[in-house]
Amino acid sequence: MQELFCFRNDFQLHSARSIFMITYPDLQSRLLDKPGIWLVTGVAGFIGSHLLEALLQMDQHVIGLDNLSTGRRDNLDSVHALVTEQQWSRFQFRHGDISSLDDCRHAMMFSIDSGETLLADYVLHQAALCSVARSIEEPTLTNDYNINGFLNILVAARDAGVKRLVYASSSAVYGDTPGLPKEENGKLRPLSPYAITKYVDELYADVFAKLFHVKSVGLRYFNIFGVRQDPQGAYAAVIPKWIDSMISANPVTIFGDGETSRDFCHVSNVVQANLLAACAPDSAYEGTYNVGTGRSTTLNQLYGYIRNSIINEFPYIPAEPHYTDFRTGDIRHSLANIAKAREQLGYMPDDGLSSQLSETVHWYLSCREHL
Ligand SMILES: NC(=O)c1ccc[n+]([C@@H]2O[C@H](COP(=O)([O-])OP(=O)(O)OC[C@H]3O[C@@H](n4cnc5c(N)ncnc54)[C@H](O)[C@@H]3O)[C@@H](O)[C@H]2O)c1
Repeated sequence: MQELFCFRNDFQLHSARSIFMITYPDLQSRLLDKPGIWLVTGVAGFIGSHLLEALLQMDQHVIGLDNLSTGRRDNLDSVHALVTEQQWSRFQFRHGDISSLDDCRHAMMFSIDSGETLLADYVLHQAALCSVARSIEEPTLTNDYNINGFLNILVAARDAGVKRLVYASSSAVYGDTPGLPKEENGKLRPLSPYAITKYVDELYADVFAKLFHVKSVGLRYFNIFGVRQDPQGAYAAVIPKWIDSMISANPVTIFGDGETSRDFCHVSNVVQANLLAACAPDSAYEGTYNVGTGRSTTLNQLYGYIRNSIINEFPYIPAEPHYTDFRTGDIRHSLANIAKAREQLGYMPDDGLSSQLSETVHWYLSCREHL
């Protein structure tokens, strides 16, 4: 496929960042004009399915790799319902595992009608075992998926000559380092097997850039939420879990006094960050970026927002939350400094938490009505 963007101008390098930076709306229209081939790993998961939806809506060709361990075919069906049949025909799903180098190599290839294959231009790597708690229970499986699997993706991406690999890292790499908001060049202190895997991925990406010129960008996601996030199970994230509890008339438990705070970031911002990172000119990006909103919200505030959204939609008033002991290992405050992503990638997150939560609550309620 032909080169999508041609901004490189060697003598301007760093000072050129703002000149060459593309805004997200501009990027969306450029992608519509010139389709590329994208591999999304973890495509049937929460974030992967949103990337798929956005890319298909921009008429891109997408290969999706997933072993369906935590991802669901329902998520793919939901995306199918949101795009045209022509857009859907540009999607090729590969049921496979990133622990297999063969599966990763195969996933780099998009089949065309003539029987030939075209190699992926861009890789958006999301597949991972994603829970801190599960990584403590299953450290070796976490290591297999998140480190060995990532290494396979790096090798396959190198051999396929992809233009850019964007991969999901995590705010977990900061651990309990002092100081807020977290900056990319600050200290890292991973506190769980999960956090270690994301940290090692960043090291591998850096080494592959130096040794083999694999161009990669790591995105340290903070607390991401939105529709299609799994509310079930022991490892569910707080927002889908609380929404599910409240609409099922079950009590919500808050660990600690509720003044623990997080940077809750809507999944649309993650999509934006991935596409900007994939298409940023070579001179504009470097290493890793925080992906959050830069806005802090306590659990008590979050509870209030979700409760109000439910009261607005549903003839039911959720009970007051139940407070219990702090959980061992929970970080008290987490907040992203997003200046680097803003300045170098043109990342402009929407931080309208209350309305984004209302939209999310609305979706979970409509899913219940269809059960
Ligand atoms: N959701 C968040 O708040 C958050 C925060 C920080 C980082 N992240 C990272 O973002 C990425 C996506 O997370 P998510 O919330 O969408 O999780 P998810 O569990 O919904 O999606 C992960 C997907 O990867 C697939 N997968 C897992 N192991 C695989 C393997 N070995 N081979 C192939 N497919 C595999 C799963 O089936 C699933 O579809 C992960 O890398 C995660 O660590 C997420």
